[in-house]
Amino acid sequence: MSKDSKTFPLRFSGYHRRDVPAPDSELTSTNPGTPMGEYMRRYWQPVCLSEELKDLPKAIRILGEDLVAFRAKNGSIGVMHLHCAHRGASLEYGIVSENGIRCCYHGWHYAVDGTLQDAPCEHDATRLKDTVCQGAYPAFERNGLVFAYMGPPEQKPPFPEFDSYTFPADTKLVAFSNMYPCNWLQVYENIMDHMHTAVLHNKMVAEGVDSDVAAGVSLEGFGDMPIMQWEATRGGNGCVFVAGRRLPENTVWVRMTEMIFPNYLQIGSLLPTAARERHGNSGCTRWSVPVDDHNMIIFGFRHFNSTVDPDGLGDESECGYDKIDFLEGQVGNRSYEEGQRAPGDWEAIVSQRRIAVHSLEHPGGSDVGVYLCRRLLREAVRGKTAPDALYEQLAAQGRTLPLYSQDSVLRVPELPRAEDRKQILALGKKVLEIMRAADDCATPAERDAYVRRELDRIDGGLAVKAEEGALA
Ligand code: FES
Ligand SMILES: [Fe+2]
Repeated sequence: MSKDSKTFPLRFSGYHRRDVPAPDSELTSTNPGTPMGEYMRRYWQPVCLSEELKDLPKAIRILGEDLVAFRAKNGSIGVMHLHCAHRGASLEYGIVSENGIRCCYHGWHYAVDGTLQDAPCEHDATRLKDTVCQGAYPAFERNGLVFAYMGPPEQKPPFPEFDSYTFPADTKLVAFSNMYPCNWLQVYENIMDHMHTAVLHNKMVAEGVDSDVAAGVSLEGFGDMPIMQWEATRGGNGCVFVAGRRLPENTVWVRMTEMIFPNYLQIGSLLPTAARERHGNSGCTRWSVPVDDHNMIIFGFRHFNSTVDPDGLGDESECGYDKIDFLEGQVGNRSYEEGQRAPGDWEAIVSQRRIAVHSLEHPGGSDVGVYLCRRLLREAVRGKTAPDALYEQLAAQGRTLPLYSQDSVLRVPELPRAEDRKQILALGKKVLEIMRAADDCATPAERDAYVRRELDRIDGGLAVKAEEGALA
């Protein structure tokens, strides 16, 4: 490149910018033995939906490993290496038995823990039974999702039970999945890229298009640019965004959504009721699970209850296998032209390349959350982050884990633009402070009551409340 061609603004400089560097494999690659792959294997991961396990075994690929999942006739779940330990036939053609699976080729029979039960072609299988074991992973079903632990057996953690699974008491968890033909990280980190909602999910890119077709989102406030801040949570084992939006009639909507590393997240209430609610709760828990480095599946629980969906807007039929995730609006099952005319998350994220190349990005202030997420993940992968002490303590006590997602609409008199921005930022910080302080509450019900009470205290605006002495 000549010296002149480097001068801003580099007009018609495509020739000099055509190289595509390698992706950031420390964060994006999850195959066995990779740093991120080993980190992710220390956590329970959903691997398929219960509804995918009928009478036949199911071949799946997770974290770059070819596996077979099945439900034995006694109800126990098997997740094991796809290729039979004898001579490699695929167990997807196996016969599901009372307590395991029998390979179709020579009939070797494995229990769900991989132990060899029987080898009918052998005169005496005693030695084989003592020395051969099919690679298997602990697995179980929970509310329609099948979870497996693919890490070192001695490091198996407790399954994380979040408050949002059982509180409020009328909560129903309904499983779903969504396939994305791209790397897991670009789907996961999208949640910190909250400002895209004002563009991608707004008429800015879907002018004249029915909002249902555009992205399933038509909500006063959601199309406006939020005032954003992002912070680490759980001792660096996660992060949140805090989005403040000015709504009509002197109100402000503060929405928080959290990531829990390595690949979980909890989103706030269902839209559009989120913009008139006041509580700390979540409408959805999601996992961004790598299939391999070029494909991923979102697995999730939609939470149906009277708090996150008081209007009964949620539709259970929208959940299930490769179905629309209500909160994201759409999946990749439309025509190419439909996707071009009204692109949504699927089009935007998949088109970032099969594996997004971070070194080609030009981040701005709106990308702080994405970069925070990557930095925290990198520190966790490198072992620089201590485990989340609260998580360990609560899990050891068999207690559920608090969440930091919430939606609150507060009355706050509108100020001139610059001051209004400042007061919305301060309000967002205060809401996050309230959610953090709620960690001291003993039960989800106490936590909820505390959050509601504290939000009531700041209803009216921080400045007004300070003047009244209400925040002392
Ligand atoms: S290859 Fe499976 S039993 Fe022979
Ligand atoms: Fe989105």
